[in-house]
Amino acid sequence: MAEQRSGSTEAASNVRERPIVESGSAVKARGLEGVIALESEICFIDGQAGVLVYRGYDIHDLAENTCFEETAYLLWNGRLPNHAELDDLNETLRRERPVPERIIDLLRAAPADASPTAVLRTATSALAHFDPEADDMSPESNYRKSVRLQAKIPTVIAAHGRLRKGQEPVAPLQEGSIAHEFLYMLNGEQPGRAAERTFDACLVLHAEHGLNASTFAGRVIGSTLSDIYSAVTGAIGALKGPLHGGANIGVIRMLLEINKSGLDPAEHVKDKLSRKERVMGFGHRVYKTLDPRAAILREMMEELSEERGERAWYDMTAKIVDTMEGEKGLYANVDFFSASVYYMLGIDPDLYTPIFALSRTAGWTAHLLEQWTENRLIRPRAEYVGPRGLKVPHIQDR
Ligand code: ACO
Repeated sequence: MAEQRSGSTEAASNVRERPIVESGSAVKARGLEGVIALESEICFIDGQAGVLVYRGYDIHDLAENTCFEETAYLLWNGRLPNHAELDDLNETLRRERPVPERIIDLLRAAPADASPTAVLRTATSALAHFDPEADDMSPESNYRKSVRLQAKIPTVIAAHGRLRKGQEPVAPLQEGSIAHEFLYMLNGEQPGRAAERTFDACLVLHAEHGLNASTFAGRVIGSTLSDIYSAVTGAIGALKGPLHGGANIGVIRMLLEINKSGLDPAEHVKDKLSRKERVMGFGHRVYKTLDPRAAILREMMEELSEERGERAWYDMTAKIVDTMEGEKGLYANVDFFSASVYYMLGIDPDLYTPIFALSRTAGWTAHLLEQWTENRLIRPRAEYVGPRGLKVPHIQDR
């Protein structure tokens, strides 16, 4: 852990230079860029070198050699599970997978065109009403609820994914992995081994990413000693934004538009840039080089596109990547390639952000468990730049 801590300080010092202004004892940084808000043992990112580490393990190693459940256990407990511990976790996850019928009724009540991320946010909040220990703040209870949320969120997303198309939800088999069960509940048929493995690796890659906007939002809520459902609901709200997890939906819309219209991908992107528009799936607050998750996903996507005879899709994305690097020096982030991987797996575009939430639930809840081990209210200040000394005029004089 000492290594991680000194590493994070080093990475932080790299990004500190630009935006921080010291004024007296206070520090100003737009968007809190480069600010170290707390110490954490969960995730190390070196944005200059493109390194991502969960609890001491490099993301490449984890993506290749662990399943999502092992990664979640690692994030929650700080160490990898042995066989018995993993079996135990899987058994609990399977038992906890079904959601109350009244949650299904709530999903049924959502308008057909409601955003699946917004519906997930509402349902996550509602799950608290059916959990008798929702407000129990003991560490044991919060751990149990982390596992429970991780088990139920996939069921909610899959059930809503079907209901909005007029299909009945498919009950979980309560047998397989989260990846297997989610794809089964969503599609109503068992996924092939390759699809399950690819999806599982995507879950590992999205599970955790330090103090990103949604995790920070969750920790802020947790720091008030509010309950875990409130914190995860708030985190989903933050993830929904197009500058964060919502970017993967923007990416697929752009790719589909280029693909359908036959536009030249490079020209399309240049045109966007000339209009000062953001190209979704590029740029990152912390990475100033290629996001290591994007590198892994790019390989996965290339394999999938070969397998499915969709090489043209891969070539289109490669052209966009080259243009963005050449024109703006901006690298692809995790959302750029995950969008294409999910597209190849046949998943509806507006489910990409909820799937991100499914995976990031492991990271959010790990951060909340950590927050509550040594809680301090997170409460920064704003510098007041408005007028002073005004007098209230009579309402008729305004
Ligand atoms: N497309 C075009 N220009 C961009 C992009 C982009 N995707 N990203 C950054 N820039 C440009 C900005 O316009 C700005 O240019 P300027 O200095 O000429 O005005 C410069 O790069 C710096 O941009 P900032 O917004 O200050 O950088 P910040 O660190 O705040 O932004 C962010 C990070 C929000 C991710 C940004 O890169 C972005 O909007 N990307 C697109 C959305 C996206 O893909 N989000 C997912 C991020 S990963 C995740 O959350 C899982």
